[in-house]
Amino acid sequence: MQFIAKVTDISKQRSACVILAVDDKDQLTQSGSDLDKASHGSLGTLLKRGDLGKAAGSTQLVSLLEGAAERVLLVRTGKAPVSQTEFRKLANASAKAVTGLKDATSYLIEVSVRDADIEWQAQQLALAAGLAGYKFTRFHSEAKPHPLAKFTLHAADKKQLSAVQKGTDLGSAQALGSNIARELGNLPGNLCTPTYLASEAKALAKKHPKLTTTVLDNKKMESLGMGAFMSVAKGSDEPAAMIAMQYKGGKTGDKPIVLVGKGITFDTGGISIKPGLQMDEMKFDMCGAASVFGVMNALVEMNAPVNVVGVVAAAENMPSGRASKPGDIVTSMSGKTIEILNTDAEGRLVLCDALTWVGKFKPSVVIDIATLTGACVIALGNHATGLYANQDQLAHDLIAAGETTGDRAWRMPLWEEYQSALSSNFADMQNIGGREAGSVTAACFLARFAEEYNWAHLDIAGSAWTSGAAKGATGRPVPLLLQYILNNK
Ligand code: BES
Ligand code: MN
Ligand code: ZN
Repeated sequence: MQFIAKVTDISKQRSACVILAVDDKDQLTQSGSDLDKASHGSLGTLLKRGDLGKAAGSTQLVSLLEGAAERVLLVRTGKAPVSQTEFRKLANASAKAVTGLKDATSYLIEVSVRDADIEWQAQQLALAAGLAGYKFTRFHSEAKPHPLAKFTLHAADKKQLSAVQKGTDLGSAQALGSNIARELGNLPGNLCTPTYLASEAKALAKKHPKLTTTVLDNKKMESLGMGAFMSVAKGSDEPAAMIAMQYKGGKTGDKPIVLVGKGITFDTGGISIKPGLQMDEMKFDMCGAASVFGVMNALVEMNAPVNVVGVVAAAENMPSGRASKPGDIVTSMSGKTIEILNTDAEGRLVLCDALTWVGKFKPSVVIDIATLTGACVIALGNHATGLYANQDQLAHDLIAAGETTGDRAWRMPLWEEYQSALSSNFADMQNIGGREAGSVTAACFLARFAEEYNWAHLDIAGSAWTSGAAKGATGRPVPLLLQYILNNK
């Protein structure tokens, strides 16, 4: 999809559809009134018929016989100024309503929003349009629906245009990154293997001179002493991979932000095997890794002036004659020993060695992203990502980035008191706590391997995909991460 920010004159608009806001009193915004005049009052007549729903977010698509644009999409807003949440709702509803069309021009920038500026509004509109245009169609044999080819955001004048342009660039990059993450997340486990992820990372490096990719294979990881990672990898016939995509868009010498994604391309649970119900959804257990791919793709696309390393710890968790067993003890790359009490708590095992390994990049901060615990879904549901951090400023900045984009995170405790749940009679620690506070004790486990730098952990078990009829990857937390990275440049 092509995104354009432009000063337009609605009475001369040639697009397939113009998107206009109508407030609670049936009032049109500036461009709406202009079009009404140009079409001899036809919009006013239409509104008087009362077919547009009264609830904010209601839409009505009408064909115009007079006037330049072929169609008008009317979107109901509440009383002005509307809240940010409500504006987001309007952005999403209008984006959905125009997906089948050739192109559209949105005038929703004219809606006044409480505590928000034009750049923010443009970002929300572009993000919503980009997300609505995505569909996983690869394996559907019938003809594919073509999404909107062009989305234009109207700006009132030259002065406003630069803010609209900025917001459009950011929002469209966030959508692009999210959709790449969704596509990888939706791919089935038989195709999206660790080897496949490694080849995607190499392909990205081929296309962009500022990005280099290195891949560690099983032999290399064994020799580096990654005993925790290998305890998961060895149960599968699929070779594992530790992937690093190093993007150098910033100043040489500026310490990089390091992202670490959990990339379990399928999680059967291993010998502690999962029940069958909904086990297919464990193909989404690489959504953390997918978000890292989404962010890296967006950064190179934007030619962003930042240094970021995207690391993916990729393996398949399988039961086999070579798989780890409950009670096994392994030595991690850090030297700390781990008693594996449950082979289904494999995410922390691959991540702990990745967290030790990334110390070599001398990071300014490390953020890991993982579909780590079912307990996080119980605690927060689908709306919030679970956030843990060993530094308050980092936690604050990530929460703010999530608020801005509508891709929100909620901070959870990493208190010392929770650490004792991980004590083992047989090794330095065990890989599970008790039944209580499962998301917290998983984070506490990771914290033991991230003491040397500023670190945050995002548990996206609830936010990375939706179940049920709309089953599919969401692309979260790509918007949050990109916002954070670009805020910090
Ligand atoms: N990938 C799962 C977490 C998960 C489960 C995410 C369901 C979303 C939905 C992770 O590897 C896992 O299996 N965690 C266990 C940990 C337990 C054994 C301590 C869990 O959450 O049940
Ligand atoms: Mn598991
Ligand atoms: Zn898992």
